[in-house]
Amino acid sequence: MTAPVLEGRRALVVGAGSGIGRAVAERFTAEGAAVVAVERDEAKCAALRAALPGVDVVQGDACEAAVNHDAVDRCRELHGGLDVLVHCVGIFDFYRPLDAVAEDAFDDAFDEMFSVNVRAAMHGVRAALPELRRSRGCIVLTESTSAYRPGRGGALYISTKFAVRGLRIALAHDLAPEVRVNSVAPGGTVGTRLTGAQSLGLDRQHLDGPDRAASIAARVPLQVALSGEDHAWSYLFLASPMSRGMTGTVLHSDGGAGVKS
Ligand SMILES: NC(=O)c1ccc[n+]([C@@H]2O[C@H](COP(=O)([O-])OP(=O)(O)OC[C@H]3O[C@@H](n4cnc5c(N)ncnc54)[C@H](O)[C@@H]3O)[C@@H](O)[C@H]2O)c1
Repeated sequence: MTAPVLEGRRALVVGAGSGIGRAVAERFTAEGAAVVAVERDEAKCAALRAALPGVDVVQGDACEAAVNHDAVDRCRELHGGLDVLVHCVGIFDFYRPLDAVAEDAFDDAFDEMFSVNVRAAMHGVRAALPELRRSRGCIVLTESTSAYRPGRGGALYISTKFAVRGLRIALAHDLAPEVRVNSVAPGGTVGTRLTGAQSLGLDRQHLDGPDRAASIAARVPLQVALSGEDHAWSYLFLASPMSRGMTGTVLHSDGGAGVKS
């Protein structure tokens, strides 16, 4: 019998309340990791605590430095340190063209999109780094097909995802040999609760819907509609010693979106 892949590892999953982050928290727990989660939404925190009683859930906004430091403190107190940071928070712009954002809404929209999709990841990294350096750990960020090509988001969303791609490359360069940094770039995903920016009036909209699986499958070469559970295997691989020689790389979990135009 082989040991679970993450036996003895300590992971912090940011944005673990639904969708991809929730699936990562479940997969990592099943593979033996001690997991601490960060989630902004109170109802999702309650559901996570009920479903995964072994996971310590920190409720708060990942855009705030203090929330990330609290979460790392919990890892230290409960588990003696941290080996893996996974960052999964994000919001969408629902394809809003740049010039369709009202003049008086633009600065807030820019700040919110970049704050949730980019600044939160930087705060997570900054808070986790002392522990990750100590443990020679790793970071897994969440990009998107939108970090590689246009069409599946508006200019704001796509710009934030290119920024996460840049963050991955910069960190991998700066943190080697101590900390590995890689990303998963999911394609369109079913079963998530991805919502939009409040400043754009999109925070009650959800990307997932009844026809989403069929439309995702119709536009990718492999004709599959992947879920958070599917992507979680890529996060697991990048968080595990199986990828110990990899940094600065990305796994495209997207049904082959890049193979055909
Ligand atoms: N859904 C897709 O089709 C898709 C495709 C490619 C990439 N992604 C990316 O995957 C990531 C996860 O998205 P998802 O689809 O699982 O959506 P989701 O909304 O189901 O999951 C994101 C979680 O993060 C939480 N969150 C959001 N902002 C937060 C904040 N400031 N602080 C703390 N928690 C916060 C949300 O409440 C939610 O629980 C995002 O970065 C998204 O851009 C999603």
